[in-house]
Amino acid sequence: MSSDPLADLDRRAELGGGEERLRRQRESGKLTARERIELLFDPGTFEEIDRFVTHRCLDFGMAEQIVPGDGVVAGHGRVSGRLAYAFAQDFTVFGGSLSETNAAKIVKIMDLAMKMGAPVVGLNDSGGARIQEGVASLAGYADIFLRNTLASGVVPQISAIMGPCAGGAVYSPAITDFTVMVKHTSYMFVTGPDVIRTVTHEQVTKEELGGAMTHNEKSGVAHFAVENDQDCVLLIRELLSFMPGNNVDDPPRVETADPADRAEAALDTIVPAAPNQPYDMFDVIQAVVDDRHFLEVHAHFAKNILVGFARLGGRPVGVVANQPAYLAGTLDIDASVKGARFVRFCDAFNIPLVTFEDVPGFLPGTVQEWGGIIRHGAKLLFAFAEATVPKLTVITRKAYGGAYCVMSSKHIRTDANYAWPTAEIAVMGAEGAVNILYKRELDAASDVAAARAAKIAEYREKFANPYVAAQRGFIDEIIRPRQTRAKLITALATLDTKRDKNPPKKHGNIPL
Ligand code: HXC
Repeated sequence: MSSDPLADLDRRAELGGGEERLRRQRESGKLTARERIELLFDPGTFEEIDRFVTHRCLDFGMAEQIVPGDGVVAGHGRVSGRLAYAFAQDFTVFGGSLSETNAAKIVKIMDLAMKMGAPVVGLNDSGGARIQEGVASLAGYADIFLRNTLASGVVPQISAIMGPCAGGAVYSPAITDFTVMVKHTSYMFVTGPDVIRTVTHEQVTKEELGGAMTHNEKSGVAHFAVENDQDCVLLIRELLSFMPGNNVDDPPRVETADPADRAEAALDTIVPAAPNQPYDMFDVIQAVVDDRHFLEVHAHFAKNILVGFARLGGRPVGVVANQPAYLAGTLDIDASVKGARFVRFCDAFNIPLVTFEDVPGFLPGTVQEWGGIIRHGAKLLFAFAEATVPKLTVITRKAYGGAYCVMSSKHIRTDANYAWPTAEIAVMGAEGAVNILYKRELDAASDVAAARAAKIAEYREKFANPYVAAQRGFIDEIIRPRQTRAKLITALATLDTKRDKNPPKKHGNIPL
């Protein structure tokens, strides 16, 4: 101990698990907990709390292993000038494992974030419950899970997975709004490869079991996969730029040089003449939004639906769009769940929803039916129906059957519904409809192919257009595709003062 105990403590807190472990952390391509925090906040704005907190465990030789801060760096600072709270687990201290006291630090900043109405960012790098502490550590997890649940829908919560997160370390991220994983250095699993080998005799690597791409492509547990720690933290900063600090504030507006009346002529011809020919809805979104910038969420999962953030006239919006270039844009189980969760996030945080629709219906098949497409598809319907934020819909081509109702239709309280002249709004596609309506007639026809073609043409003439829906007021306006940006921006400005609410209740019962 030197003559300056504070300097001593400070130095030990900075060093975490020691030089050797910090070197190993860097060698594995990871930043340290402190470096991550520095990168997350605007320079010089981070205020650390509980820097000198230590664990209370005296068993298993722990009394000799005391590290000030106890393996988690926590506090608050500014992200693009706005208040945010964060914690970063320090893998160099007992593998970032969760002790009673470092759980208490995390709980403290979550409580403060709720009080102040500011987002919480968790930078996770943890071997789960600190084994030496037993139930005290489990209690710490449960305390965090409770805060995650209570904070859900009150302040945005973002999790980064920046190392091997095992056991309890994965459940807090699972409750938060968005999860970012770093490729090749991060893993999430409840039970690891060794336990799996013993119990089920399956051989699986950490990467296969719970790597970044596994959770981005297969399970949908993670929303983003990034190349390294720097990209991870910068992505979180960008994500926060679309969100308010809490559920009573509005999302932050920015100045934009992109003209509100910018007309994109290319949109007029983007929908192919043949109804079954795909096109990329990504191109439509990019052509419409400010500076062509669309931050796609869940890009690798359920690619038949696109969700993400953009701005229109400087206002943040949540975009939900069918993707005809993948599975013809049908809604399946994964797409419904992906869309529903995103819609609910936007609704909770006052972010208007813009829907681009080209959907031939729900994906048919036993896999979908037995997997519960009825229950899962209902989630998306429920989410759009209960949402009270400004809602805008543009039908670019198909709006068939139940999917027409689900995708933010007029009937479920959408404020402005537009259709392009290429829109087709019907109970089902022409081929399927003709087979049902004219089965006997076609069976008896001398030239079945010609009779069928004639019936299909007749059906398309009657239903494959937006005019019937417009006559009934289900579509507010049929617009030229090039006008889409200007129309949406005008509608959003009109809806700035929108107030809508749901009946008083404890909570709804979304079909989980
Ligand atoms: C205490 C731990 C620890 C833990 C790791 N360490 N996990 N200490 N409790 N849970 C320590 C190690 O002893 C080691 O200390 C240092 O952290 C680094 O660990 P390594 O194993 O050397 O690192 P690596 O090879 O990278 O492997 C990382 C790992 C592995 C995959 C996370 O350590 C691991 O499997 N840990 C256990 C995971 C686990 O089963 N956790 C409990 C889950 S149950 P030294 O001194 O050598 O640096 C749970 C219940 C909560 O979490 C349920 C709530 C719902």
